[in-house]
Amino acid sequence: MASLNTQSRKHARKQQIRPLAGSLLALAIGFGVATAHADDALPKLVNKTPMKVGFAQTESNNPWRLAETKSFKDVAAKCGWQIVMTDANGSNSKQVSDIQSMIAQHVDLLVFPPREEKPLAPVVLQAKKAGIPVILVDRDVDQSVAKAGRDYITFIGSDFIDQGHRAADWLVKATGGKAKIIELEGTTGASAANDRKKGFDEIIAKNPGMTIIASQSGDFARDKGRQVMETLLQAHPDVTAVYAHNDEMALGAIAAIKAAGKQPGKDIQIVTIDGTKGGMDAIAAGELGASVQSSPFFGPLACDVAQRYAKGEKIPTWVKVSDRFYDKSNVQQSMQYGY
Ligand code: AHR
Repeated sequence: MASLNTQSRKHARKQQIRPLAGSLLALAIGFGVATAHADDALPKLVNKTPMKVGFAQTESNNPWRLAETKSFKDVAAKCGWQIVMTDANGSNSKQVSDIQSMIAQHVDLLVFPPREEKPLAPVVLQAKKAGIPVILVDRDVDQSVAKAGRDYITFIGSDFIDQGHRAADWLVKATGGKAKIIELEGTTGASAANDRKKGFDEIIAKNPGMTIIASQSGDFARDKGRQVMETLLQAHPDVTAVYAHNDEMALGAIAAIKAAGKQPGKDIQIVTIDGTKGGMDAIAAGELGASVQSSPFFGPLACDVAQRYAKGEKIPTWVKVSDRFYDKSNVQQSMQYGY
């Protein structure tokens, strides 16, 4: 489900706003000042068994994160990896210090999903300075600070903007182009939230009958999604649709809608992203309209990229993951892809 073709749209977009080029980057950070020459070559990866790989997870509060972590545990033996794993419990600063501790342990390779784009960018430069190659998975960092192909090997992940487009396209069709929408955003500052919002809002802006009446973060968490939806339902009882940036928040919203005496899927159409088992069950039950899959299975892809990189192959700056789409027309026969 991924191609090694150079996928430059997202990085090209980010390059347009990159203010620093070919110069010394100096960043005051946790344990000192990290500097890295933009022109320095990427650190090499020596192919050895076992290879000590650091995987720094952001949090473990939903099925998507658990599936992502499991895909790394599952691939470790096959790939000859001895994995050092951490869990930042939803804290940017903990994820940064987890990664710094892996750098201090001299892991051979670092792989991680940066919780937020900006706070996690400097530590990528620290790893480069320490001679440790980095693969980013799932979410990306701020390209004006650390850049794929220059400061880290590659970004392996979905096209979040396209996910937003696909969710919006479905909602336009499902509502006949007329809706009052509540948007439940993911973690503020995460590339997944930024780009899913951008993609969705772009399509909605082209449909004059569709209005986003409120947009607020539910932090990609089910209970936060429920609480935010509860409040927004009171302020906007005329809502007819919900776009949640992930299944967990959509499931929270469904609970809030039911508690308010409305029927999800009938009074209020809901579209979301992830393709978890819980999301797919809600589609089968007619409460959720559709979910754009966002694959969490990065372990085998990261293993493949690391092996190719160690052999000296040129790796594209974005290894793009393609995602499925589920609605009532195909959810039953797609259940095996749920997680
Ligand atoms: O970055 C991917 C998002 O993060 C997933 O949609 C979500 O469930 C997770 O927490």
